Amino acid sequence: MRVAMIGTGYVGLVSGACFSDFGHDVVCVDKDASKIERLEQNIMPIYEPGLDALVEKNVKAGRLAFTTDLAKAVPGADAVFIAVGTPSRRGDGHADLSYVYAAAEEIAAAITTYTVVVTKSTVPVGTGAEVEAIIQKVRPDLKPGVHFSVASNPEFLREGAAIDDFKRPDRVVVGAQDDKARETMKELYRPLYINETPIVFTNRVTSELIKYAANAFLATKITFINEMADLCEKVGANVQQVAKGIGLDGRIGSKFLHAGPGYGGSCFPKDTLALVRTAQQHESPVRIVEQVVEINADRKKAMINRVRAMAGGDLSGKTIAVLGLTFKPNTDDMRDSPSLDLVPALIDAGATVRAHDPEGMEEAKKLLPDALVYCDGPYQAMEGADIAVILTEWTNYRALDLDRVKSLLSAPKIVDLRNVYDPAQMERDGFEYSSIGRPTTS
Ligand SMILES: NC(=O)c1ccc[n+]([C@@H]2O[C@H](COP(=O)([O-])OP(=O)(O)OC[C@H]3O[C@@H](n4cnc5c(N)ncnc54)[C@H](O)[C@@H]3O)[C@@H](O)[C@H]2O)c1
Repeated sequence: MRVAMIGTGYVGLVSGACFSDFGHDVVCVDKDASKIERLEQNIMPIYEPGLDALVEKNVKAGRLAFTTDLAKAVPGADAVFIAVGTPSRRGDGHADLSYVYAAAEEIAAAITTYTVVVTKSTVPVGTGAEVEAIIQKVRPDLKPGVHFSVASNPEFLREGAAIDDFKRPDRVVVGAQDDKARETMKELYRPLYINETPIVFTNRVTSELIKYAANAFLATKITFINEMADLCEKVGANVQQVAKGIGLDGRIGSKFLHAGPGYGGSCFPKDTLALVRTAQQHESPVRIVEQVVEINADRKKAMINRVRAMAGGDLSGKTIAVLGLTFKPNTDDMRDSPSLDLVPALIDAGATVRAHDPEGMEEAKKLLPDALVYCDGPYQAMEGADIAVILTEWTNYRALDLDRVKSLLSAPKIVDLRNVYDPAQMERDGFEYSSIGRPTTS
């Protein structure tokens, strides 16, 4: 089948590369010419494990190509995916759909044969209908269900494990209004059909809502365990054991029960907020999600208090080593990362901040204050620092040489916001150590 992928970011590039690996002919389109130039030289514009090899293999096989020219990629395509960004609209938190609608207009002008236009971007309920209306406005000659269809196919991949998630998903969700679209989508996902991946066919609005409901549920689960962690600290309980004790219950499940500094990333913050706004608009508020949004934002802001407490109440003149800047390991994505709250707050409080991140420092430079000192490795960041803060659980921070850490820090103090180390072990090793929802040593 022929596929055009509009938007070649985290989702578009991974989806495009995976569809080509399924055997389809895929053209990935982006209006960012520098991205396309780099991809043509097999230089990945994002960090995602395994992506460069997958792209190279499929480009060599002639199944994957890149262009800035949407008008050339769309004609003759069986499916055109919209995978552009849907960030929070400034001011009100609604999803900004301007990129989606602009892409829909361009696609409409370029359709030549029956095409399914698929929203892969995370879009609020009703967006598919709006995309259909835009296409009809631009091309009154095209009839929905006859010359084109608009379907919804939200993406559930996780950055850092994106290829595996795309190829071995828990499920695929397709929202379609007619059989022609359903048949095209079935054919596209045939390799997963053979693997017996559950494919949930539903109507467009339901599919659109499934994506937001999934993200809001996961964000709620994280927020729940974060609040349990705070309570654990007050009563002397251990949140990791609470998580294990509840997670073994099949109705609860053990995933997404890791307490930490608050969720970040390109999806949960904006999607929870967008769901809150959609629900308010329809006068059916999701009050639990409203609370989650508020609690999480407060939590990210409050993380500085843990570093301040370790510093004895005053951060001015202190040097803090921050290990990890991205919102999670194995990505270079900095969007809504907890570091965007913590690092500026530390600097405002008068601290010098020395940071390291294996993949995120280029992106971080665009978003964090110039005063932040970037270091070549975790040990360089800790040289002469008063406190080390573990903010992202990259593998190479999980097995630090603790004797070396001790010799580098001015005093052996670690604030571990990801619960990477064992408090008892840290006590034995002579560290002053605080983590989330577990006993603090001093
Ligand atoms: N990143 C994730 O983990 C993830 C997971 C699931 C769903 N999503 C959703 O997928 C969508 C895309 O997210 P992303 O992280 O890939 O975004 P991104 O910002 O990495 O990529 C979007 C790309 O679209 C391009 N673009 C915008 N308008 C265009 C146009 N008219 N023509 C061609 N290219 C255009 C941009 O230049 C950019 O490269 C969002 O709705 C997001 O919520 C993201």
